[in-house]
Amino acid sequence: MKKMIQDNFEFAAKQYQFLEKATPQDSMPKTFDKNRNISSDVYWWCSGFYPGTLLYIYEYTKKPSILDDAKKRLAILDTVKYYTKNHDLGFMMYCSFGNAYRLTKNEEYKKVILESSKSLATRYRPDAKVIQSWEITDGGLRQKGFVGPVIIDNLMNLEMLEWSSHNSTDKKFANIAESHANTTIKNHFRPDYSSYHVLDYDLNTGEVRKKVTAQGYSDSSAWSRGQGWALYGYTMMYRFTKNPAYLKQAQGVAKFILNNPNLPTDKIPYWDFDAPNIPNELRDVSAASVYASALLELGQYTSGKEKQNYISVAKTILKSLSSSKYRADLGSNGGYLLKHSVGSIPHNNEIDVPLTYADYYFVEALLRYQKWYL
Ligand code: GLY
Repeated sequence: MKKMIQDNFEFAAKQYQFLEKATPQDSMPKTFDKNRNISSDVYWWCSGFYPGTLLYIYEYTKKPSILDDAKKRLAILDTVKYYTKNHDLGFMMYCSFGNAYRLTKNEEYKKVILESSKSLATRYRPDAKVIQSWEITDGGLRQKGFVGPVIIDNLMNLEMLEWSSHNSTDKKFANIAESHANTTIKNHFRPDYSSYHVLDYDLNTGEVRKKVTAQGYSDSSAWSRGQGWALYGYTMMYRFTKNPAYLKQAQGVAKFILNNPNLPTDKIPYWDFDAPNIPNELRDVSAASVYASALLELGQYTSGKEKQNYISVAKTILKSLSSSKYRADLGSNGGYLLKHSVGSIPHNNEIDVPLTYADYYFVEALLRYQKWYL
């Protein structure tokens, strides 16, 4: 594993130079599709992953030029701290500035994180006890009858809120995070611990109006990345709170994923556990990266056979992703590390392409393996 981790970081340091060159300085990388690099503005939900991945690569390699590249991207991301139009602030500002602060202890980065948490907190709806994910004007949601959409992905944004309370005197952020996490346990899961993708809440009463999907195969299916957000989300919430309910939830989700007969032997899931044509369905490498990173952390909070199983599956995922089936050749794949992720099949968007978050959680998992298990 030590050798594999070293090889991946040496590769990443070189490969990301191609991505850096292919991405205009006022933008962030998004994907590589039909032989061309596609970038986004800083308000796309993925804008934090590229600087975050650069920071992880810097953490391992200590190459100053990689830190410089990350800092240039952080400079254009800074303005997002005031953004209040979606729930993704945690992804955008914590994966980026959170890592920047952790590695540099620059107090300016901490201020950015705290301001971003203030912005995210404006989306908390106290009567329903949730953070609203999307504006109802987004994607015609109003026409579809939504009033208070909350998606399972939202759990990931709680990390920035928890961190902000743990690193300031303002407990409001953690209170909001825990309130959202508790409501989500109550409403967002099925008895087998798989989760729905989108719930619509009556924001005055907290009543659940519908349980549907946006990116999964069907309303009742288990969209693979969504299961990853749930696994990572409750594992992370346990880290901050030590609330046994969050550990139990994470263990339940892990059981659903790891015991699922549709999880292939290389542990890279199909895009939805209930996709109708398995094994002739696309894999989603981004979901696998999230699983690996989350399972390694869950291994820190468990013992015995359970812990060994989490580590062993994470190890299989990392080995699979490091193979030529999933990892790009140097200079190919638009400069991204991993191939074969899926953004949204129902929207015919980002199908079987590299994605920034697949790379981000992959390198995070490699560092976690090195820190905890080597
Ligand atoms: N958070 C959006 C996604 O997972 O595609």
